[in-house]
Amino acid sequence: MHPRCLLSITALPQADAEQLLLNAGRCVSWIQRGGQLKSSSLRGTSTLLLFAENSTRTRVSFELAGKLLGSDTINISSKGSSIEKGESLRDTAMTLAAMHFSCVVMRHEAADSAEHFARWYPGPVLNAGAGRGEHPTQALLDAFTLQRHGLLRPGAKLAIVGDLTHSRVARSNLALLARFGVEVTLVGPPNLTPSAWRVGAGLGPPAPGASEKAGQDPPLRWTPDLDSILPELDAVMLLRVQHERMAGGEMSTQDEYSKLYGMNRRRLGMLRSDALIMHPGPVNRGVEAGEDVFSDPRCVINEQVESGLALRAALLAWALERELDF
Ligand code: CP
Repeated sequence: MHPRCLLSITALPQADAEQLLLNAGRCVSWIQRGGQLKSSSLRGTSTLLLFAENSTRTRVSFELAGKLLGSDTINISSKGSSIEKGESLRDTAMTLAAMHFSCVVMRHEAADSAEHFARWYPGPVLNAGAGRGEHPTQALLDAFTLQRHGLLRPGAKLAIVGDLTHSRVARSNLALLARFGVEVTLVGPPNLTPSAWRVGAGLGPPAPGASEKAGQDPPLRWTPDLDSILPELDAVMLLRVQHERMAGGEMSTQDEYSKLYGMNRRRLGMLRSDALIMHPGPVNRGVEAGEDVFSDPRCVINEQVESGLALRAALLAWALERELDF
């Protein structure tokens, strides 16, 4: 039997995506009621968190979700593990397989790292962010956040703004939100937008194992002009400028970037009063968003973090084929 893996959003069947969002709704109510009461949904399981790239939100929410549901969680990072000594992902996977973890959650700088690891690991593998490739759990938690506000529906208008070239968040969100009929416009400087996206081509070929519906390649809309579309949006998703993934020369200056694409007081005035402001985090304050954004009632950045905890709890139960007992 094939283990339940989440390697890319395109490979996740639509029925599973919808069930995960439903279960995330149960989890968020449970967490808000004081989920510290603990559940035994994942009792007797072990979850390995393998983070070879830095993370706060993703790693901690997976670990907390696992613990709240009764799974034993163990962390390894590249620092302090044999990855730092040069052990390959394949050998790491085979070594961990011998320890029989029920599930592995992994983040790595290579875009194909989760697929590669899963070829050598016999159990469920969850991609917690792979280089410039995909960040499927971020897309699911963003979809869940939109759903909490009635915006995961055909015709809802969302802009994804910023450093599109280096963004795994943009790639996974585009693929997932299109399935729900959300109208996404990409907004970013030409030199931080893949050329195929600028001319409206699709995302590229679906991942191996993609479901038929997931494999549809949505037409892309792109504009470099944020101000021209701000007033019509239901939600704006700001992307983190990925300085660490740039070779150099892609960005003029941070001041120039924030003038053209940063959310500031003037742009807050152009957004509808019921629009949402999202950001996956961590935010480069003063670049993608000015201080006014964080006190604006339309800002749901911290709610996205709560959504992430709930969604990852639902996802662990899905991967381990366990029912939630609350
Ligand atoms: N959004 C996100 O992946 O944040 P972390 O890098 O803190 O996990």
